[in-house]
Amino acid sequence: MNVTVDGTPMTAEPGRTAAAVLMLAGRDAGVFCGIGVCFNCLVEVNGERDVRSCQRVLVDGDEVRTR
Ligand code: FES
Repeated sequence: MNVTVDGTPMTAEPGRTAAAVLMLAGRDAGVFCGIGVCFNCLVEVNGERDVRSCQRVLVDGDEVRTR
């Protein structure tokens, strides 16, 4: 699937979370718990703010923005 991270196009395997895509790109996703509890990994997805990147499975065309 094709996604963008802070405006940079990337390809990723379907089923990857936003946090996984960020880490595969060498970015700090802020993951602490990895199970949706700590809210340390917030990003914006398609304009939706405060999305927990460790919980959001991306789909083709998603746009992720970090802070
Ligand atoms: S890493 Fe804790 S909520 Fe995402």
